[in-house]
Amino acid sequence: MKNALALASALALAGYVDAVPATASTTCCRELSQALPSLFFSPSTSQYNTLINARWSGTSVLHPGCVVTPKSALDVSKAVKIITKNQCQFAVRGGGHNANTGFNSIDGGVSIDLSSLNSASLADDRTYVSIGSGITWGEAYDAFNSSNIGFTGGICEDVSAGGVSLGGGQSLFQPKRGWAVDNIINYEIVLASGEIVNANATSHPDLYKALKGGNTNFGIVTHLKIAAFDFDGLWGGEVFVSLNGPQATYSQVQDQMSQALVDFTANNHLDINTAVQLMTVYLANNQGQIVNAAFGNTIGEENPASLQEFLNMPNQVKHDAGHIKLADFVHQVSEFQAKGYRQVTSSITFSNDFATVRDIWDVTDAIYNGLEHKDQVDWMISFIPQPKIQQSYSTRSGGNSLGLQSVTDDQIVVWLTSRWTDPSLDSMMYAARDDFIVATETVAKKYGTYHPFLYINYASPSQNPLCGYGVDNFNFLKATATKYDPRGVFQKLMPGGFKVSKTTCS
Ligand SMILES: Cc1cc2nc3c(=O)[nH]c(=O)nc-3n(C[C@H](O)[C@H](O)[C@H](O)COP(=O)(O)OP(=O)(O)OC[C@H]3O[C@@H](n4cnc5c(N)ncnc54)[C@H](O)[C@@H]3O)c2cc1C
Ligand SMILES: *[C@@H]1O[C@H](CO)[C@@H](O)[C@H](O)[C@H]1NC(C)=O
Ligand SMILES: *[C@@H]1O[C@H](CO)[C@@H](O)[C@H](O)[C@H]1NC(C)=O
Repeated sequence: MKNALALASALALAGYVDAVPATASTTCCRELSQALPSLFFSPSTSQYNTLINARWSGTSVLHPGCVVTPKSALDVSKAVKIITKNQCQFAVRGGGHNANTGFNSIDGGVSIDLSSLNSASLADDRTYVSIGSGITWGEAYDAFNSSNIGFTGGICEDVSAGGVSLGGGQSLFQPKRGWAVDNIINYEIVLASGEIVNANATSHPDLYKALKGGNTNFGIVTHLKIAAFDFDGLWGGEVFVSLNGPQATYSQVQDQMSQALVDFTANNHLDINTAVQLMTVYLANNQGQIVNAAFGNTIGEENPASLQEFLNMPNQVKHDAGHIKLADFVHQVSEFQAKGYRQVTSSITFSNDFATVRDIWDVTDAIYNGLEHKDQVDWMISFIPQPKIQQSYSTRSGGNSLGLQSVTDDQIVVWLTSRWTDPSLDSMMYAARDDFIVATETVAKKYGTYHPFLYINYASPSQNPLCGYGVDNFNFLKATATKYDPRGVFQKLMPGGFKVSKTTCS
């Protein structure tokens, strides 16, 4: 920690970061220990290591000067006031799922860990759920497992509601209800001043719209109300297809899977109750190359016609499908996404098109095959349909900041989520991440299918997702950040996330 502080002050002297005295976080940690004694953890406590390591990817584990674990919006407000008064650097952790270094933790500063903001309740009239922003989707679905109620949220059990609420939110309900953010009816948020406000259709509607995609530029979200509906569970499951026989060859599987994805995406508006996500997984040490299709029908219809191409794939090594509660489905599909690895993330978006999908598969295979130590890497790429109809649900809740309302095509999001364990491979994988962006953009541009949107929650640090929202939305986010945080607390003191002040759009 001493080294981290020395480094921070050296960087500040060199002008790399906004000058913050190295002693600032010591002062903050001391004051936090007095203001929130039972929620405060210094490096000498036994909980500290558990708290700092509680991240999905080893690449995001850093060493803060202290950790606080607020249990209420008031606790968060107290922490923000202390941090602002003393001008300390800080980070916010929701579910800890973002792999980008510095997004959810910090060396030497204050870590605000929201995992104790995990309340969950259903409104008396069953029209919405109220949840703490630090709850994970797994915890949230478990809480309502016997309520026969549904709401839009993430598919991975350990991702938090807070992180998704500031980015977009892909779910099995997206063809029918849009992004998760389009279903949020209230954000409770602590502003830079420490004030706790509600952002909704009638209270601070500009902030409400900005938060729906605007990331970490406005404050710390503490609670959410998400629209709910009667829901008996899914018919869903997974098909695992080997790329290497026995019935079909590697390139035949690529052709058929690409065609299935493109057909599904083009027809998704005809069956908005069904969603599917593909993931290619090439396991380390030659342990197999498979494609996983995870699917769900949200009205419990068995074997819907829209899924037939996936259900009939050759080379199936495993096939699970059945009536299942959302909680159980989410636990099942998350088995593939275990903690304990190091991870990269990056993504682009393109119009639904067979040639683009198929070439992207080839060019990303070429990156993988060129890796010096590919035997030590699990190479994982997801393809996620983003049908045009998904964008039609935002206006009824006051719009979002994603800039997709006027897209004219069905789209597909491609997402690199590869993993490895040996830190000495980090630079190889960071280079692969950058190559992935260049290669996929090149293919999409070649076919005229490239779209500047990229899902901010999948973006790499070198990408500019806020620019992908379009210049009007970007300017709106900038103006709204200045209005609610005139002193730039979330720009200068909280480095994690994509910042309007650090982004220049060409
Ligand atoms: C395996 C896996 C599966 C995924 N599945 C899905 C999915 O099904 N749908 C989907 O939409 N996305 C999914 N994602 C992407 C996910 O949305 C992002 O990784 C997201 O950033 C994680 O949010 P978090 O709160 O869990 O993570 P964190 O890393 O804790 O937070 C992410 C960022 O948001 C900030 N933040 C978090 N909470 C708050 C808050 N309350 N107030 C202010 N800032 C906050 C953090 O400071 C950080 O910068 C998945 C990611 C992974 C790795
Ligand atoms: C959810 O409820 C079902 C019964 O409807 C049960 O079988 C399952 O174990 C429950 N899952 C969780 C995570 O509580
Ligand atoms: C919107 O904010 C106002 C003002 O804080 C609050 O009274 C109202 O309950 C909020 N609406 C919702 C849906 O939470």
